[in-house]
Amino acid sequence: MTKRKGNRGWRWLALWWHHFSLFWSTIDAQSRYSIPEELKQGSVVGNLARDLGLGLSDIFDRKMRLASDAGEQYFSVDVGKGELIVKDRIDREALCGQSASCVLPLQIVVENPLQSHRIEVEITDINDNSPSFPTQEINLKIPESVLVGKRFPLESAEDSDVGSNSLKSYSLSKNDYFSLKFKQTKNGQAVPELMLEKPLDREKNALHGLLLSALDGGNPARSGTCKISITVLDNNDNFPVFSENEYKISLKENSTKGTFVIKLTATDADDGLNGEVTYLFGSRTPESVLSTFEINDESGEMLLKGPLDYEISKSYLIDITAKDKGTPEMEGHCRVQVDIEDINDNAPEILLTSKPSPVREDAPRGTVVALISARDSDSGDNGKVVLHLSKTFPFILKPSFSNNYELLTNDPLDREKISQFDIELKAFDSGNPRLSGSTIIAVSITDVNDNPPVFTQSFYNVYLKENGVPGSILYSVSASDLDSGENAKISYSILDSKVQDVSVSSYVYINSDNGSIYSMHSFDYEKLKVFQIQVQAKDQGAHSLSSNATVHVFILDQNDNTPAVIYPTSAALGSLSHQRMPRSAKAGHLVTKVTAVDADSGHNAWISYRLAEATDASLFTVNQYTGEVRTKRAVYEQDDSSQRLLIEIKDDGQPGQSATATVSILLEDGLHEPILDLRHKMSEPSKKTGRITLYLILSLASVSVLSLVTFLILAVKCIRGSRSSGSCCMRRSDCDDYKNPNRNLQIQLNTDGPIKYVEVLGGDMMSQSQSFRSCMSPMSEYSDFTLIKPSSTTDFKEVISVLDASLPDSTWTFESQQVNLLLHTGL
Ligand SMILES: *[C@@H]1O[C@H](CO)[C@@H](O)[C@H](O)[C@H]1NC(C)=O
Ligand SMILES: *[C@@H]1O[C@H](CO)[C@@H](O)[C@H](O)[C@H]1NC(C)=O
Ligand SMILES: *[C@@H]1O[C@H](CO)[C@@H](O)[C@H](O)[C@H]1NC(C)=O
Repeated sequence: MTKRKGNRGWRWLALWWHHFSLFWSTIDAQSRYSIPEELKQGSVVGNLARDLGLGLSDIFDRKMRLASDAGEQYFSVDVGKGELIVKDRIDREALCGQSASCVLPLQIVVENPLQSHRIEVEITDINDNSPSFPTQEINLKIPESVLVGKRFPLESAEDSDVGSNSLKSYSLSKNDYFSLKFKQTKNGQAVPELMLEKPLDREKNALHGLLLSALDGGNPARSGTCKISITVLDNNDNFPVFSENEYKISLKENSTKGTFVIKLTATDADDGLNGEVTYLFGSRTPESVLSTFEINDESGEMLLKGPLDYEISKSYLIDITAKDKGTPEMEGHCRVQVDIEDINDNAPEILLTSKPSPVREDAPRGTVVALISARDSDSGDNGKVVLHLSKTFPFILKPSFSNNYELLTNDPLDREKISQFDIELKAFDSGNPRLSGSTIIAVSITDVNDNPPVFTQSFYNVYLKENGVPGSILYSVSASDLDSGENAKISYSILDSKVQDVSVSSYVYINSDNGSIYSMHSFDYEKLKVFQIQVQAKDQGAHSLSSNATVHVFILDQNDNTPAVIYPTSAALGSLSHQRMPRSAKAGHLVTKVTAVDADSGHNAWISYRLAEATDASLFTVNQYTGEVRTKRAVYEQDDSSQRLLIEIKDDGQPGQSATATVSILLEDGLHEPILDLRHKMSEPSKKTGRITLYLILSLASVSVLSLVTFLILAVKCIRGSRSSGSCCMRRSDCDDYKNPNRNLQIQLNTDGPIKYVEVLGGDMMSQSQSFRSCMSPMSEYSDFTLIKPSSTTDFKEVISVLDASLPDSTWTFESQQVNLLLHTGL
């Protein structure tokens, strides 16, 4: 097909060929013409007239014309010029297809004579057709996984032209992936193919646009193109990728369930399911992580599922897998490191490394009692522990190493004060807020025998009636010991001493277990008035300790002695005295004096005299206290000259004991009144006079000294008492009397056997006797001062000191009644 565009050029070329071929055909074969196709209407193919040897007139005349059978359509004869001209467009491809030569036979007919000439018109090809592809656009879908070298057949292009104008070559637009190859078909045709030169990557380039060009050999060449669109199909060839390989986050230890931990995102370059990512824990994730964290498989959000405990795990390493849904699945991995931040959530603990051992109370300072350690599960400052004692104890805590301490004694211990310490220990950590813990350690103190037994009193006064039953409990002493156990187990004993030259152990014995003291004798007051027992209490400790106490035993007088009449005496039973008195005696005449003594003491020895019977009771009277027998009145004429008096002598004991004395009095006329008959009597020599006198002197001296001492003591007592009460006084006259004790002394002796006592009487017998009266107590009616006779073996001083100690300050009660009133002068 001829294009109008560029017609002029084409025509020129065609003409050129035309003339060339005319010339050639004219010479070679006159009846053959060659023209290119697509000549313009009216183009001259050849000069028939000349070539057929006909004149111009002949042509017209002979009516030269084309036979109608063939070629008539395309050609016509110009009668005027005798030329064959193109009548219609001649398309070689339409006439001859792809055959290499295209010759149209023509018959020229001339009449007159009718002649037929055969001529041939060869139609030569011109490049009037471009190569063309059956389809303008090819869509290819190629999976990206396709291997390099794989070929993909394309459609061949076609060109209607022949020869050199026909399809000559193909070319492919420039690209990196594909090249153009050919495949020879059986009919020798080359079919273009795409060959993969380089792996495809959908993710880089999902669509490739190529242009395939087909070129013919014409001049100028013509071309045809085909667009090739290649869609790269996705292959699951990308694994999901996390933004980082490792994530590091930290969580507070006290974070609660549901706390957001992290959101993970993995991207998958693949498409569709191949790019849809799910998240899960790695296959080898330990149970501890699974129980603590959870991950949302869709969103990749990680949350806390269980409690955190820094002390159990300080950090978690969690492997996370991201998986796509392609086939096969592709996986990506990352690791999340979760560091737990410690919160001070653990209180410090106190542990006893060694249980406290009991401590001896004499343990020296620095003795280790217990080993203690402190612990806090937290870390850093939260786990730094300091240990204190809650308050002051005689113990200290000494840090040894790290969090270990020793509990040491620091002050003297005394089990008797505190036998057990409950030591409270407090531990604090250094966290914020501070947490604390405490524990109590019981430390018991063991006893050491450091306390002696102590008697309830340092001395005891025991008053024991004489004539008691031997074997009766005399007293029970008791001692106590502050120690414990054997150290406090007390045994009692009596320390040996002498009482009246006899070992005290023959008098008493003691129950060693309970301190009861038993008498082994019945005591006779008249023989033994006081004695002492030294008792000892001893504990059973390893180094036993003891203490002593003194028991003063005072024997109490019982009225077991009847008054003994010492004047008048009689060898015979009863006492009978024969007295004489003048009838001229006046009232108040002293007839005689009955004297009796009582071995007992106090009231038991307080003798009173009473006229029990008398011949004439109106004539005589007996002084109740002195025993003086005096006349009551003057003697009358009619009074019987022989008078008999029965005098009852009675002590003041309960029950009282009594004796009697009989005095017979002879009233005589003209008898002179005797003066102090008694003095004569007393000085009446006896056989023992010499010895007695010596005793007497000694006794007097000792009595004087004793009196002085006693008096001084009493005076001291008085002064002491007067300071408090002011009730004590001492009559000046008494003191004066005392200064001259021998002024009016009358001494009576017991003449039976060895001297037992001396009675010192002061004052005039005739008058109211003076007494050494001290007002010990204004209430006391027994305030008369008395002395104990020196006959006792007992040391006087000691007895007095005992008395002094045992008597209360302001009252003279018991003892004043008990002490024998040897020196009394009546009231
Ligand atoms: C965790 O502890 C911190 C500091 O002790 C505190 O401020 C915070 O409120 C606590 N959080 C929870 C959830 O208890
Ligand atoms: C001591 O023991 C004796 C004998 O067992 C007993 O008779 C006495 O009463 C006891 N004394 C005391 C004070 O318990
Ligand atoms: C107790 O008396 C005994 C004997 O006199 C003596 O050896 C001992 O030291 C005394 N004990 C005390 C504690 O005074």
